[in-house]
Amino acid sequence: MMKWDSDLAIGIEAIDNQHKQIFEHLLAIENSIAKRDPWHILHFLLSQLSAYMKFHLAVEESLHEITRYPDQQEHRYGHARIIELMGELEDKLQRNPSGENLVGFFEAWFVRHVLSDDREFALYIKEEFPALYGRHPA
Ligand SMILES: [Fe+2]
Ligand SMILES: [Fe+2]
Repeated sequence: MMKWDSDLAIGIEAIDNQHKQIFEHLLAIENSIAKRDPWHILHFLLSQLSAYMKFHLAVEESLHEITRYPDQQEHRYGHARIIELMGELEDKLQRNPSGENLVGFFEAWFVRHVLSDDREFALYIKEEFPALYGRHPA
């Protein structure tokens, strides 16, 4: 499990704060697995992750539209894949609630998206809307 740190910051404060929240949700799920919590607790935590993730992806996509981001279609495919993998994570944990490495796999995928697609969007914002760029969360 990795914790959110400033290496993951893309430079858009609202988005970085949401990414941090997602890491908190993932940490809670991993802790729950490590404690051997029953499935209904894990299911509750996974539902929270899923709701928050959908909110986050919708915020990003509306920012793409507002700023007429040219790569928004491709970025959307990445988001669709995250939703798909989140569903798979839930299915796999239901079958095997002690699968700690399953969260690690999802997390690695999420981190790759942040460091590639989200960071690419942030660089566009830096160029085109500099007032929105460069504020890092505390
Ligand atoms: Fe993101
Ligand atoms: Fe994204």
